[in-house]
Amino acid sequence: MKAIEINNLVKRFVSKNEKIVALDDISFSIDEGKIFSLLGPNGAGKTTTIKILATLLLPDSGQAKICGYDVVKNDLLVRKTLGTVLPGERTLFWKLTVKENLAYFSDLYGLNPKYSRKRIEYLLNKFEINDRKDTYVEKLSTGLRQRVVLCRALLSDPRVIILDEPTLGLDPEASRNLRNIIKEIKDEGKTILLTTHYMYEADELSDMVAIINKGKIVSIDTPVNLKKNLDIERNITITSRNFTSNFIENIRQEFFTEVKKEINEDGILKISFYLKKKDDALSKIIKIASEHDIIVDNIALSEPTLEDVFINKTGKKFAEIEVSAK
Ligand SMILES: Nc1ncnc2c1ncn2[C@@H]1O[C@H](COP(=O)(O)OP(=O)(O)OP(=O)(O)O)[C@@H](O)[C@H]1O
Ligand SMILES: [Mg+2]
Repeated sequence: MKAIEINNLVKRFVSKNEKIVALDDISFSIDEGKIFSLLGPNGAGKTTTIKILATLLLPDSGQAKICGYDVVKNDLLVRKTLGTVLPGERTLFWKLTVKENLAYFSDLYGLNPKYSRKRIEYLLNKFEINDRKDTYVEKLSTGLRQRVVLCRALLSDPRVIILDEPTLGLDPEASRNLRNIIKEIKDEGKTILLTTHYMYEADELSDMVAIINKGKIVSIDTPVNLKKNLDIERNITITSRNFTSNFIENIRQEFFTEVKKEINEDGILKISFYLKKKDDALSKIIKIASEHDIIVDNIALSEPTLEDVFINKTGKKFAEIEVSAK
């Protein structure tokens, strides 16, 4: 069974007499025990997807299931199976301590008091906030507060966790800590769906990434495959002390490309050019260099990033979309 299964989900909103198609027929599924990221710019439909899965919003059409439970027909069972973290700081009571918050939510979720006492202790230790258990939430840093929010989502030991922009607003160190915690949660066998608009975050954490744009899934694969299967130009830089114009001309002909030359402070000449495909370019270059008696100090081939994948699939830069969406 799939941990999450979404089929042909459609959601429209009407805002100021304008019709918005927030989700335009999206489908994907997530295997148990995996981390799956929905990566997309502002307004792409990430939160709408999360809210439908969390039974906070009804879809117009299509189906979504969590561990086999339909989010519309079996909403109570879905809520029991899920731990949800939505964006925003006001998801805890600021005038209660960390422990009081977790105890309150345990009661609210109807958890057995003996179980919840142990569970809270376990989570506080696991997330290294036990020493802050008697601190008022309003006194915590945003990073620590986000850890408490995660503890809350994990109180009932749910099989599936959904996190909407979990690292939004955190400083780099707090983000890194939270990413490590997310990996630890996965190691406990949980399935995690997260949304992000940080490319590196999706790249680092995910077993699978779905790129979503304007309510449509434009690509789904592992981060490695998304980058590997991308047929874009790659930049190659060769450094040497004894380039010759014949060698450069040979490179130009072999790869049909402009060659940029540049000398750095050490007097080392660097040439850069674009390759259409990776193929066996490196071995070709080394062969040509050896035919010309060129001593190559270094060859660097730029690897595509998820951002390159995004640009390639949508025809737009991530930042451009972010700006135009505002
Ligand atoms: N309650 C609502 N009423 C009207 N329009 C809405 C509502 N909720 C979302 N939308 C619109 O639906 C689209 C998708 O929004 P959604 O919040 O799912 O995007 P997102 O990918 O989470 O974006 P962000 O990165 O900004 O969080 C946007 O155009 C948004 O303005
Ligand atoms: Mg959102």
